Amino acid sequence: MNILLLGSGGREHAIATKISQSPLCDQLFIAPGNAGTSQVGINKPMNILDFSSIEKFVLENNIGLVVIGPEEPLVKGIVDYFKTNKNLQQVLIVGPSMEGAKLEGSKDYAKAFMQRNSIPTAAYKTFNRNEIHEAENFLKTLKPPYVLKADGLAAGKGVVIPETQEEAMGALNEILVSSKFGSAGDKIVIEEFLLGIELSIFVLTDGIDYIILPEAKDYKRIGDNDTGLNTGGMGAVSPVPFAGKEFLKKVEERIIIPTVEGLKKESIDYRGFIFIGLMNVNGNPFVIEYNVRMGDPETEVVFPRIDSDVVDLFVKAAKGELKNTAIKINPQTAVTVVMASGGYPGDYEKGKEISFLHKSKDSTIFHGGTKESEGKIITSGGRVFAITSFGKNIQDACKKSYRQIDEIKFEKAYFRKDIGLDLLKDRESNKVER
Ligand code: AMP
Ligand code: GLY
Repeated sequence: MNILLLGSGGREHAIATKISQSPLCDQLFIAPGNAGTSQVGINKPMNILDFSSIEKFVLENNIGLVVIGPEEPLVKGIVDYFKTNKNLQQVLIVGPSMEGAKLEGSKDYAKAFMQRNSIPTAAYKTFNRNEIHEAENFLKTLKPPYVLKADGLAAGKGVVIPETQEEAMGALNEILVSSKFGSAGDKIVIEEFLLGIELSIFVLTDGIDYIILPEAKDYKRIGDNDTGLNTGGMGAVSPVPFAGKEFLKKVEERIIIPTVEGLKKESIDYRGFIFIGLMNVNGNPFVIEYNVRMGDPETEVVFPRIDSDVVDLFVKAAKGELKNTAIKINPQTAVTVVMASGGYPGDYEKGKEISFLHKSKDSTIFHGGTKESEGKIITSGGRVFAITSFGKNIQDACKKSYRQIDEIKFEKAYFRKDIGLDLLKDRESNKVER
């Protein structure tokens, strides 16, 4: 079967790598891909929001399965485009319908879905642009810190957590009145602050049945010890020591089952990934957000741990045949450390030449922001690589990734030096139960 994967980050390189290892895969195309995905498939320059170009490519190249990496094509309705188009109805596609993608595309929709389906989440209220005074009055009833979320997609920047009421009022005005996030801020969700430790849970569902992929912990801040600006993620670890059997059972019973049941009950066509960002509050899981895709850099530790044939899993999810499907997971620890362009997540320079002094057999170099130019590999984005290694524990895996990082050179390269360290400190009090 010929397969098309949409996207261009480290996530897509990790997914493409697994797809390319499947005996079910004939040709793999990645659109637009990066300098890493071209090592495991064929890159195809394409605008992933241009559905008619994608249609043409799919038909011309006899594509049997399409996998969508990022959220934007999903939120904009690529799955509905395929399913309502006579030419494309035979093509399998992994991703939710536009209705399902609202779980990520609208925070208000996601909160209301959780409320209807009794899924634990922070208490909240939503306000639109005409309700600024109501929103201000609501803020006055809350204790700091405050959590304000632009309703729509805002490139991961739509959440602000001010410490003071004055700052919260300012942020509220910026979003609702000054349209800091454009139409994504037509509505604002204000919610209770949850104190705890975050965890990323990944599920593959056909809308009726589901399989749970390995969990991961992401490191979102740019600086060591979780300081500085939020990023897409600077590293990840899987499995996560504090997510023992008992906690994961609560996640399945209180969150995963009611989520999938909710999709079914509400007749939402959903055949794809559900990424549940949750907070462990004193041993109890609360949903912070849904995403309708895999996470990046979480995928760079989650996918290497999947020993099952991912194409088989994707086909089953797309056909609605996941029932009784088991997944084989590598029990070893995987750690990924992101190498970024200096300046990220703010302004940074692109086009820096990259040299690989040595490629270690102990690590996998997933490319994110790279491209080929005149026979060289150069930087083309903020997060340039995610370096993944397996180990018998976090320390062991980390050591290998950092050793590989030392052998990759480009001007102004930056990486966090503390990925996984917090989990080591907690190791005694959060014993791994598996
Ligand atoms: P989101 O874009 O929804 O993932 O939010 C970005 C980040 O804000 C999350 O990863 C959390 O660290 C934080 N966050 C979001 N909602 C809450 C909340 N209710 N309480 C505490 N932190 C939150
Ligand atoms: N690493 C978080 C995300 O992909 O949204």
